[in-house]
Amino acid sequence: MTTTPPVLQPTPLPLPGLKHSLPFYAFKPWVKLGSPILLFEYLLKTFGNIAHYRFLGTPIVFINDPEYIREVLVNQSSAFVKERTVRRMKVLLGEGLITSDDPIHIRQRRIAAPAFHRQRIAAYGDQIVAIAAAQREQWQPNHTIDIAAASMSLSLEIVARTLFDTEVTADIRSINDEVNTIMDLYNFIVAFPRIESFMHLPIPGIIKFRRSKARLDAVVDRLIREHRQAAANGEPDKGDLLSMLLASTDDQADASGQLTGMTDAQARDEVLTIFLAGYETVANGLAWTWYLLSQNPDVEAKLHAELDAVLGTGSNLRLPTLADYPNLRYTEQVFAEAMRLYPPAWAMGRMSTRPVQLGPYTIPTGAHVFFSQYIMGRDPQYFPDPLRFDPDRFSPENKARRPKFTYFPFGGGNRQCIGESFAWMEGVFSIATIAQRWRLAYAGTTPPEVQAKITLRPKDPLMMKLIPR
Ligand code: HEM
Repeated sequence: MTTTPPVLQPTPLPLPGLKHSLPFYAFKPWVKLGSPILLFEYLLKTFGNIAHYRFLGTPIVFINDPEYIREVLVNQSSAFVKERTVRRMKVLLGEGLITSDDPIHIRQRRIAAPAFHRQRIAAYGDQIVAIAAAQREQWQPNHTIDIAAASMSLSLEIVARTLFDTEVTADIRSINDEVNTIMDLYNFIVAFPRIESFMHLPIPGIIKFRRSKARLDAVVDRLIREHRQAAANGEPDKGDLLSMLLASTDDQADASGQLTGMTDAQARDEVLTIFLAGYETVANGLAWTWYLLSQNPDVEAKLHAELDAVLGTGSNLRLPTLADYPNLRYTEQVFAEAMRLYPPAWAMGRMSTRPVQLGPYTIPTGAHVFFSQYIMGRDPQYFPDPLRFDPDRFSPENKARRPKFTYFPFGGGNRQCIGESFAWMEGVFSIATIAQRWRLAYAGTTPPEVQAKITLRPKDPLMMKLIPR
């Protein structure tokens, strides 16, 4: 008689991690309010690629394994929603693409997708170059400027003109100030449990936030009103993203059989989302790129060699065009490598809505799962000698050697950044246009410190001396 061998069920392993709730460790050097990177680094060093802790009763799991990240973002994405701090951003971004859940998200993404198609984005290339060229023409030899602020102003102008077809008037410029105010208050706002219920209270931080948000809304409402008015007057669509967003309808009919588009309230949430997601991220990516180039003359020389070969020198020098884009490969690698060391979106998180298996570990319902582009990008297992700035890591052969989720500056799965193609084009064309004419030399005396807010910003002004080429 034959006996069937028993099926061996893998025994789930207990999640490694901190024994006590996080406040118990409040005086440890790796627990510092506003610096979660220190905590993540400590967890990785102490427990390996998965580690668990509790905070105010919530289980939190930090993962640093490309396969686990794929599980969360792609294979088992239906078991997750955005984690609580992103959900709390609804007080700012409403039900825009970043903060909304299905079914709202899936519909909004369907409506917005055509506006972000690669071919559409290509049409913005010349505008990006023209705006970067105008900036470089204003610069004076040997002047010292804050390149972080200059990059913010560049990318705000690019987003305003290409995506919203608006002049950068005083109220658009004020977006920068309002966003700065909001960023300063952000950690306070998102750390506040049930913040939504307190938004009407006369608490100083909340009053300031409400005022900034009201000013942002007024700018965005004006843009929407003007675009709707232009469409009603029969003016031709200028091809900007907002016109497309307002004109496009869902390809699936609603209950009454109508193909409907976005309401003004939805359009406002999307415009604000795209503004915030689209300019601050690219600006930080560019600012860090200039710093890294200034510290690595060999890489800078190789970049200049590519620009000179593709775009000419001396009296033959010309601005980049769309046809040059595929030939600016090393420029793209420079931007990619800068975003490895200083990823503008430095961490992401999800909350599980049911128990999830990650390898031998079970993640309970309601757990917050975090992973960090910053930590992964500096992991010597995937990026040997990680602090070395070496754009050759992003040559096609070297890229192909690494597992996919070792580099994910734009996230992945169904919530992957919708503006990724735009961001690459903006990054490559801005670097090429400026580095064609200028070298930037770091004027600080100590290395810049990072500040991990919604995006990874330099903590202080990033002063650079402008040297003509
Ligand atoms: C270097 C620049 C950028 C970086 C590093 C970046 C990064 C990211 C990341 C990591 C996500 C996913 C967040 C998550 O899944 O939790 C995301 C989503 C998003 N990004 Fe970007 N982004 C950049 C530029 C842009 C630009 C230029 C735009 C718009 C023009 C944009 C619009 C969005 C939107 C709307 C989403 C939400 C997508 C959805 O959930 O459907 N981003 N971005």
